[in-house]
Amino acid sequence: MTTTKGLEGIVATTSAISSIHNDVLTYRGYSIEDLAEQATFEEVVYLLWNGELPDAVQLREFRSNLANNATVPDEIYDLIKALPHQKVHPMAVLRTAVSALGVLDEQADDMDEKTNKQKAIRIQAKISTIVTAFSRIRQGLEPVAPRKDLGFAANFLYMLKGKEPSTVAARTFDKALILHADHELNASTFTARVCVATLSDIYSGVTAAIGALKGPLHGGANEQVMRMLDKITSISEADFFIEDALAKKQKIMGFGHRVYKNGDPRARIQKKMAEELTQDSGEEKLYLLSAHIEELIRNRKGLLPNTDFYSATIYHTLGIETDLFTPVFAVSRTSGWVAHILEQLGDNRLIRPRAEYNGQPYRAYVPVDAR
Ligand code: SDX
Repeated sequence: MTTTKGLEGIVATTSAISSIHNDVLTYRGYSIEDLAEQATFEEVVYLLWNGELPDAVQLREFRSNLANNATVPDEIYDLIKALPHQKVHPMAVLRTAVSALGVLDEQADDMDEKTNKQKAIRIQAKISTIVTAFSRIRQGLEPVAPRKDLGFAANFLYMLKGKEPSTVAARTFDKALILHADHELNASTFTARVCVATLSDIYSGVTAAIGALKGPLHGGANEQVMRMLDKITSISEADFFIEDALAKKQKIMGFGHRVYKNGDPRARIQKKMAEELTQDSGEEKLYLLSAHIEELIRNRKGLLPNTDFYSATIYHTLGIETDLFTPVFAVSRTSGWVAHILEQLGDNRLIRPRAEYNGQPYRAYVPVDAR
C-alpha cells in the first residue's frame, strides 16, 4: 500500500470541468486568459455547469434566473442578526447561513438533475446576498436588497456598499470572480465531491466545501496576505519582515502551490489587474509593496505568487473588508463546487480511499480494575 503526504500527485478521479496542464488553466477547454478578458462571470458559471458557453438567449435567461433568485428568506437575515458578529469569522457565518438555506429549501433532498440545477441557481445567487448582508448587519446597517438590473459582479459591490460601483470596479471584480471560479480538484472542491458521493444533497456539499475553504492553507490565505501587507508600512521594512518570517520557518501567505511549480497563471493576470486598479484609484502603495515582496520571495525562496497574493490588493482597493476576502472567494468558487457536485452525482460512486495503519499491534482488553 503506497501513501503520499496530502495525496500529493494522486489522481483521484476524472473530470471534464477544468484542466491544469503545464501551468495552463482552462475551464471546459477555454483558457482563463480568454475568459477573464472577454467573458462575464455569469457566462463562466453557465459554461462550468452546462459544458458550453451560452448563446445570447441562454445568457439572458440565465442572468434573469440568477437575479430572480438573489433575495434570501427573512429567516436568514434573522439568523445572521442573532449570531455574535464581532466574535465569529464571516466564513463560519457563511457556512451556517448556507446550511440554513438548505433547511429552508423544501426541495433540498430532491436529487433529480433538473431540481439540482434549480437549487444550484438558488445557492449561487443567494450566497452573494448572504455575504453582503452579513457585512451590513454587523455594521448595524440594514441589508441592501439585490437589484435585477445589475450584473452579478456589480450587484455584489452594490449590495456591499449601498451604491453602484464604477465601471472599472465592476469589471475588475467580474474578472476576479472568473479567475476564482474553478480549479480542478483543490481541497474544498474535493471535499464537496466526497460529500455528495454518498448521495448527500447539494447544500451539504457546498456547506462542507465552505468549511474546507476557510483554512489559511487554502482559501483563507488571501485574508492573511492582507494582514501581512498591513503590518509592513514601507518597502524597506518588507525585507526585514520577510527575512524574519523565513528565519522562523513561517509560510508566506499567497506564495507556493501544490500543483503550479512555475507560477500560478491566475496570479499573472491578477498582478496586472492590481496594477491597473491601483493606478485608477491613485493608491498604488499596496501594489508596489506586493511587487517588491514578490521579487524578494522569488529571489530568496524560489517561490512564486498564487491566486491569493494579488487578490488581496484587488479586494482591498475595491473597498472589501479584509475578513470578507475568503467569503468572496467562496462566492466565486460556489460555481466550481456546484459544477463538480453535478458531475459527481452523475458518477454515482462512493469515494472511500484506504489508510495505512501505523498504530498499536493487536492486544487483549484489560479490565479497568487491572489497569
Ligand atoms: C489556494 O489546490 C488549489 O488549487 C488551491 C487554490 C485554488 O484555486 O483552489 O489554488 C487556492 O489554496 C492557493 C494556496 C493558498 N495558500 C497559501 O498561500 C498558503 C501558503 N502556501 C503554502 O502553505 C503552500 O505553498 C501550499 C499549501 C499552497 C502548498 O503546499 P505543499 O504543496 O504542501 O508544499 P509544502 O508545504 O510541502 O512546501 C514545499 C516546500 C517546503 O519547504 P521544505 O520544508 O521542504 O524545506 O516549500 C516551502 C515549504 O516550507 N514552502 C513555503 C511556502 N510554500 C511552500 N515556504 C514559505 N512560504 C510558503 N508560502
